[in-house]
Amino acid sequence: PLVTVIGAGNVGRTLTQRIAEKNLADVVLIDIVEGLPQGIALDLMAAQGIELHDSKIIGTNNYEDTVGSDIVVITAGLARKPGMSRDDLIQTNAKIVADVAKKAIQYSPNAQFIVITNPLDAMTYLTWKATGLPASQVMGMAGVLDSSRLQTFIAMELGVCTADVSTMVLGGHGDLMLPLTRYCTVRGVPIAELMDEETIERLVERTRHGGAEVVKLLQTGGAYYAPASSGCLMVEAILRDRSRLLPAAAYLQGQYGLDDIFLGVPCRLGCRGVESILEVKLTDEEQKALHASADSVRQNIKVAME
Ligand code: NAI
Repeated sequence: PLVTVIGAGNVGRTLTQRIAEKNLADVVLIDIVEGLPQGIALDLMAAQGIELHDSKIIGTNNYEDTVGSDIVVITAGLARKPGMSRDDLIQTNAKIVADVAKKAIQYSPNAQFIVITNPLDAMTYLTWKATGLPASQVMGMAGVLDSSRLQTFIAMELGVCTADVSTMVLGGHGDLMLPLTRYCTVRGVPIAELMDEETIERLVERTRHGGAEVVKLLQTGGAYYAPASSGCLMVEAILRDRSRLLPAAAYLQGQYGLDDIFLGVPCRLGCRGVESILEVKLTDEEQKALHASADSVRQNIKVAME
C-alpha cells in the first residue's frame, strides 16, 4: 500500500518514520519547501537496513508522485507557539488545507483522508468539502491522542502499566474536549473505584491542556511524537482493516443530536474508513458538554469556510 503524508514538519516526518518502520506501507512525504521532504526521505531510507523494514520513502514537492495513494494524511500548516490556542491558526491553515486537499484528491480519488492539522475538527470538515469524498472516507485525528494522554496520566498516577488503562475522550480537539471518565477503566475496573474525584478532575484538566503543556516546554512548536503515533494507529486500522474502535473526528448526521459537523466520537475504523459510529449513552451533563464543544467547532467551521 501507499500512504501520502502532506507536510514534512515535525508531525509529518515522525509519522512517516513510524509508518515505514512498522512496515505498514510505502510513504510519499510532500512539502512546499524544496529539498526538505527529499532530505528527510533520504535520511530515513539510510536507516532501512538497521531498522529492518522494506517500506520505500519518497520525498517530493510534486503531487504527481502521490498518485494512487490508499491514504492521504494532512499535517501541513502552522503549529502553535506558546500562548496561542489551536483556533488562532485557523485562517492560515484553512487556506493551506483546502489547497493541499484539492491537489491530493486529483491523484488519489479513492483515498481515505486523515486530517491532523489544527484546528482539527474544522480542518477535517474543510477537507471533506474540498475533496468531495463520501464523509466516511474523511476523518480527523485527535481523540486517539487525547485518550492516549489521559491513559498515560492515569497510569502514572496509579503506577500501573499504561496498556492496562482504557480511556475515551470525545468532542472537539480543544479546551472543551470531553474525557468520558465514567467509561475509563483499569482492566475493566472503573477509575472512580481506584482514585478520588479530585484526582480524576486534575488528570482531566491535564489532558485538556496536554498539548499546551508540551508547547510551553518546547517553546518552538507543538507535540509530535504522540501525535505521530496516534496518526499511525489510524493508518494501521485502515490498511490492515482491523475494525478498531477509536475516537476520531467523524461526520455526524443526527448521532448525539448533532448534524452536519465533524466531531470526535467513537468510530469503527477499517478499510472503508469510518465504517460506523458508536453512540454511547451520555448523562445530561455529558451531552451538554458535548454540545458546547460542538458549538465552538461550528464557529471554527464558519470561519474556515469563508
Ligand atoms: P511544523 O511547522 O513542524 O510542520 C508543518 C509543515 O507544513 C512544514 O514543513 C511546512 O513547510 C509545511 N507546509 C506548509 N504549507 C504547506 C503546503 N501548502 N503544502 C505542503 N506543506 C506545507 O508543524 P507540526 O508540528 O508538524 O504540526 C503540523 C500541524 O499539525 C499543525 O497545524 C499542528 O497544530 C497540528 N497538530 C495536530 C495534532 C492533533 O492532535 N490533531 C497534534 C499535533 C499537531
